[in-house]
Amino acid sequence: MSEKKRYRSAEWYNSKTHKRDTFVHRGWMRNQGHPDHLFDGRPVIGICNTWSELTPCNGHFREISESVKKGVYEAGGFPLEFPVFSASESNLRPTAMLFRNLASMDVEEAIRGNPMDGVVLLMGCDKTTPSLLMGAASVDIPTIGVSGGPMLNGHHKGNTIGSGTGVWQLDADLSAGKITEEDFIEAEISMSRSKGNCMTMGTASTMGSMVEALGMALPHNAAIPAVDARRYSLAHMSGKRIVEMVKENLTMSKVVSKASFENAIKVNGAIGGSTNAVIHLAAIAGRLEIDLTLDDWEKCGKDIPTLVNLQPSGKYLMEDFYYAGGVPAVIKQLLDKKLINKNALTVNGKTIEENNINADCWNKEVIKNFDSPLVKDGGIKILKGNIAPDGAIIKPSAASSELMQHKGKAIVFESIEEFQNKIDDPNLDVDKNSILVLKNCGPRGYPGMAEVGNMRLPKKILKQGIRDMIRISDARMSGTAYGTVILHTCPEAAVKGPLAAVQNGDIIEVDVKNCKLNLNVSNEVIEKRLEAYQPILPEIKGGYQKMYVDHVMQADKGADLDFLVGKRGSEVKRHSH
Ligand code: FES
Repeated sequence: MSEKKRYRSAEWYNSKTHKRDTFVHRGWMRNQGHPDHLFDGRPVIGICNTWSELTPCNGHFREISESVKKGVYEAGGFPLEFPVFSASESNLRPTAMLFRNLASMDVEEAIRGNPMDGVVLLMGCDKTTPSLLMGAASVDIPTIGVSGGPMLNGHHKGNTIGSGTGVWQLDADLSAGKITEEDFIEAEISMSRSKGNCMTMGTASTMGSMVEALGMALPHNAAIPAVDARRYSLAHMSGKRIVEMVKENLTMSKVVSKASFENAIKVNGAIGGSTNAVIHLAAIAGRLEIDLTLDDWEKCGKDIPTLVNLQPSGKYLMEDFYYAGGVPAVIKQLLDKKLINKNALTVNGKTIEENNINADCWNKEVIKNFDSPLVKDGGIKILKGNIAPDGAIIKPSAASSELMQHKGKAIVFESIEEFQNKIDDPNLDVDKNSILVLKNCGPRGYPGMAEVGNMRLPKKILKQGIRDMIRISDARMSGTAYGTVILHTCPEAAVKGPLAAVQNGDIIEVDVKNCKLNLNVSNEVIEKRLEAYQPILPEIKGGYQKMYVDHVMQADKGADLDFLVGKRGSEVKRHSH
């Protein structure tokens, strides 16, 4: 042992001074049949698994874990799989986002408290990716990400249908009387016809792409379909690589820098990524003590066209994206235009340039050329003005170009419940030029900041054949949703941000080109209204939700809990037996 490098796990399994502790740590592990030589000081690799039958997008993760294990053993490591809180986007109420921070605490403490020298993060469904990255960042040992991959394309009655995006379309068709209820139900299994996460460029695929752009996973991590043999090969190679990373002591903070986040913002623009990436990247950066603000989105996202023709911005789905060349083919184009910080490091020890400079594009209809993109001015736009002094965001590639500069009369809903009760009221004084405003759905007002910002349009407007109107809120929206939707308005109404001052009939001016969002009401009137405003606050019975509302930060700060920001390292006190 003396010439051998001592890793962190040796404190548990190879103590020279606390023999009884070593007996306990090793002895109990032996009940799983692990032979003696696995405890000889080799790198112990944790496989952090968000497998759950209630998180269907991650339902195949035990199989992925088996491939990771093969790679770890092959490289001379000792893999140990452990479960963590799995936040399911499709099942968990009131919203999976409420539990992202809780899950990150689970991940952080599980990594720090256990004998592991490196960790493989198995991530898929929307919130499982940021929660694992956040938790791991706060510990900062060698870390590699492996995504579970998207489902195969949905096919229904001769059409391809995408996760989420298809639901919003089918729902609008059902409301407009264009399809029957039977058609609607039949589409369920046609949409989700294989293992994997949503196969639109929703939040899951966006975050898988962000993991790749940040340098936290091997190339092609985002797009290989969940059932493709190459997904398992990538998992195997990641298992092999993490053992080397431990030997090189290549920790997460050595891989991910401010330059990596700038690259991720640019890639998000080029892929037409989800608005949720803004919040998640801010939270991950906060854990790594990297200063990332909405101004960075404005600075780095500017002039990045959307190249990837995927739903909800475009036509195709993740399976097509993989066959067309995936994220490497996108990064290659950005590299050619000198838009990427080419020296940013990645988990395989190579730079982002070395990994992607020779990537091929096999289908220019799915991954468009930089000079004839899907949307010229893509990415996420940051709007500021007297309604949103700390910013609000919009995704132009999913919005209607004719609404990018618009003035309209506000139709205000104080809560999501009021919206649901009134939206189809035939007496609602709304027309296609109105602007729907929803309050009290931010991180504090609706704990977890529900994905309700893409409010459905009033039936009477849908019946006129109108499919889009401007909507403004302090909520989020699903990454699979689309429309001219202004989200994450900061500060939120529940903490008396100026969004709270908007009243029915006020005129709102939206100017996406010039990044402006203003209420045509004087500042004095706004202040007076805010003084009198009584936010609708949620009833909290205690437990985790109490901690959440007491400590959650605003959306521009990533909606993390204030006391979780930063790295706390991997040191842990010995517990003597
Ligand atoms: Fe899990 Fe979309 S619901 S990725």
